Amino acid sequence: MSTKVEITKALASLTELSAETIETLLETPKNADQGDLSFPCFRLAKDWRKAPAAIAAELADKLPEIVGLARAEAVSGYLNFFFGKADFAAVTLARVLSEGERYGASELGGGKTVCVEFSSINIAKPFHIGHLPSTAIGAALNRIYDFLGYRTVAINHLGDWGTQFGKMIVAYRLWGQKPVLDYTVRELVALYVRYHDEAEKDPALDDQAREWFCRMEQGDAEAMALWSDFAEVSLTEAKLIYDRLGVAFDSYAGESFYEDKMQPIIDELREKKISKEDDGAVIVDLTPWDMPPALIVKRDGSTIYLTRDLAAADYRKAMYDFVRSLYVVAYQQDLHFRQLFKILELLGRSWADDCVHVNFGMVSMEEGTLSTRSGNVVYLSDVLNAAVTKAREIIGEKSPDLEGKDAVAEVIGVGALLWSVLYHGRIKDTAFSWAKALSFEGETGPYVQYTHARCCSVLRKIPDSRFQIPVGRGLAPAEIDVSVLDEPYSLAVIKAIAAFPQAIEAAAEKNEPYLVARAVMAVCTAFNKFYYERRIVGEEPATQNARLALTEATRQTIANGLKLLGLVAPTRM
Ligand code: ARG
Repeated sequence: MSTKVEITKALASLTELSAETIETLLETPKNADQGDLSFPCFRLAKDWRKAPAAIAAELADKLPEIVGLARAEAVSGYLNFFFGKADFAAVTLARVLSEGERYGASELGGGKTVCVEFSSINIAKPFHIGHLPSTAIGAALNRIYDFLGYRTVAINHLGDWGTQFGKMIVAYRLWGQKPVLDYTVRELVALYVRYHDEAEKDPALDDQAREWFCRMEQGDAEAMALWSDFAEVSLTEAKLIYDRLGVAFDSYAGESFYEDKMQPIIDELREKKISKEDDGAVIVDLTPWDMPPALIVKRDGSTIYLTRDLAAADYRKAMYDFVRSLYVVAYQQDLHFRQLFKILELLGRSWADDCVHVNFGMVSMEEGTLSTRSGNVVYLSDVLNAAVTKAREIIGEKSPDLEGKDAVAEVIGVGALLWSVLYHGRIKDTAFSWAKALSFEGETGPYVQYTHARCCSVLRKIPDSRFQIPVGRGLAPAEIDVSVLDEPYSLAVIKAIAAFPQAIEAAAEKNEPYLVARAVMAVCTAFNKFYYERRIVGEEPATQNARLALTEATRQTIANGLKLLGLVAPTRM
């Protein structure tokens, strides 16, 4: 990176600092108006017996003639350098090509822990389309925080406890035909539906169900064996979906896990007089905060969802010592989380503010676009399969000779779905449309994946090029004549690429993965314009080489962005 080296040399000659020290002190400012590189003068204040601002001004006066490449400006103790456009290109390219898969990563998080709870499906219930946003957004946030140097804990807070399991046991004992483990989730759901139909005619079933749930609460072996088989069936199926979505969890501690961990917090609520008795139940009055009372313990002594969440919050703090704890859950549960966080605050948990409900809007399906329906529920696996089938059709038309069509169709179909969720601000309700999501044009996942494949195909054309895939490491920018890139189409691509790292930080700050998706889209749009306007392969060597480097930097940035969002970046499409 010529300019940085020049600046370092110049600063070393004007100060007593070594080049290494200067290199570590030089920082990349957050805002473009603070220049491309910034040198803090505070270190020099003691030796020079001058204020940092005065030192910065003095250096700014002496530097320009020496450096010659960049303009220097003194601002409150900092010396800010502004590069020429060609240098901006050089710095950006060098950064992407040397950092490779780590381009956009940072140590911002300093190893501090963020808990990301997401997906949180319910056992023996459908894994349906409504779980897609939580799964996609949560997994993306998890990867984004990871990339920024946080330690992340991905938690699937399974809905695996409650009276419905008493009903499941009754239904299975009455109508079950084979071992539970031989069931599919759909069959289990059918048993559950049948239970509800029959219980309407025969209320005695509900008494049995209550009794079985009581036995579960007491740890009865028969009840627990059935329950654990239900869980196994559900998790086995769920994990197939998680694999397709590229999602993994560090913990599957669900509601059942907290069954024996609620008493301390129930006692504490009573001792601190935060809760009160109400007709045999225990509640927390939240009227001062304009919320309905929160039920903690029911009249029959049983606990509820909220009670388990209180215990879970304490457990996560004790276990992981998070600086942030995210709950990626639909906005339908806004009230629940406001109540939860308020009660934590009333309990004096200093970290209550670090808990964040990352809420999102609903996805509705365009009518008539999905034929396989079980009741009113749209299973996520059906949607994934349908997306992949459609992707396969499109590929069959567009690239009939493509090798490994099925594998490509899988990543494009799945990618289209993920992108459709991750390309918009979380809170918006969205109507899912096949036509839109699977289009290879427009602002879709396949379009981004296609742009990646296009970069790869350009790079493949020069087989002996150093930019051949996989490349990126150890490239000396001196070998690239960046002046070639000092023209609007190339600079637009570089600008979009340079904005990528900050988009990742902003995405974490706001818990909005779509900011990453938008940044990736901006790179694609700029690159495709460049691609149509400028020839890459077949130009004279200096031009060809510079444009190939730009193509590789584009490819790398798209690949990094897609990975954060959970999409595969195909090399051929
Ligand atoms: N299992 C719940 C559902 O499907 C979501 C759980 C949300 N997380 C929580 N900690 N309450 O509605």
